[in-house]
Amino acid sequence: MSDDVDTLRQDCLAALAEATDQRAWDAIRVSFLGKSGRLTGLLKQLGRMDAEERKVRGAQLNRLRDELTRAIEDRGREIETAALDARLAAERVDISVPVVEAARGGLHPVSQAVEEITAIFGAMGFTVAEGPDIETDWHNFSALNTPEHHAARTDHDTFYLPPEGDDRNRVLRTQTSGVQIRTMLGQKPPIRIIAPGRTYRADHDATHSPMFHQCEGLVIDQGITLGHLKGTLIEFLRVFFGKPDLPVRFRASYFPFTEPSMEVDIGWSRKTGEIGGGEDWLEVLGSGMVHPRVLANCGLNPEEWQGFAFGMGIERLSMLKNGIPDLRSFYESDVRWLTHYGTDPLAPALLHEGI
Ligand code: DAH
Repeated sequence: MSDDVDTLRQDCLAALAEATDQRAWDAIRVSFLGKSGRLTGLLKQLGRMDAEERKVRGAQLNRLRDELTRAIEDRGREIETAALDARLAAERVDISVPVVEAARGGLHPVSQAVEEITAIFGAMGFTVAEGPDIETDWHNFSALNTPEHHAARTDHDTFYLPPEGDDRNRVLRTQTSGVQIRTMLGQKPPIRIIAPGRTYRADHDATHSPMFHQCEGLVIDQGITLGHLKGTLIEFLRVFFGKPDLPVRFRASYFPFTEPSMEVDIGWSRKTGEIGGGEDWLEVLGSGMVHPRVLANCGLNPEEWQGFAFGMGIERLSMLKNGIPDLRSFYESDVRWLTHYGTDPLAPALLHEGI
């Protein structure tokens, strides 16, 4: 084996031997096998080699990938078992202790953010729409002007489901945008909906989780313009973050189902992390005017109806608002974290600036 392959293997095995907790293990997995990991880097170079060289090198790298994948999985299991053993040895539950105070549950920060988002858009006349987590490829992609072989599909790291009878081409939805299609097919305009819900992508690190939440928005009516889009989103962001003068910037971008498309940024300070202060910009959501082809796919005449759509990551908004550094903590069910960031289930949505 060539030197770089040997070094990479040794580095990975040495790092694994030293990793004693889940987080260190996860960092190793990402840094060797992740999207921009070292082995992935070597695999990417294959494209530039001639056929003969690629054959030899490709086989070598595939063997290495299998070996490292196995080593990483094995070490992961060891770390998990050791952690469980340590917990079982340390934890004692005294079931004879009397109850001092009835335990009181709290709202998870994701639920809290959904309540806040719903309250704000509710006040602007939006209703809540839903769609299934298991979605057809057509609703999730094709009807949204993302045909097969479109580059945007590969960006999504889609979980495809095995065919079941006549049910082929089912996916775990990668975005809530399919609810736009279901709503336009199911009801006549004018439409004003938001659609909060779970979404899924095969991606896992400090800012990505295989399951996360998005909230979609859709407005369809006659005479809808970019001005309505901007006004609605500026108002939403200022109320959500409780800053009446929050700077909001619209930046030209691309989504297959909107034209024109815009990414929306809010002002913040990279140095202090303060939202609304400083010189920097932070991307918080995607938006655009609904593409005429999407309207036509849903039986609406683009000459008659226009609209805008937007989509945001709920955990991301909650992380920014509450200063939560790591996405993974949302799903760890750690009672201390939940108590700290969770909120009283009986309290109304916390929107100090009013709606
Ligand atoms: N679905 C997009 C995503 O997951 C987000 C998005 C962008 C939704 C623009 C929209 C939109 O409705 O108009 O990245």
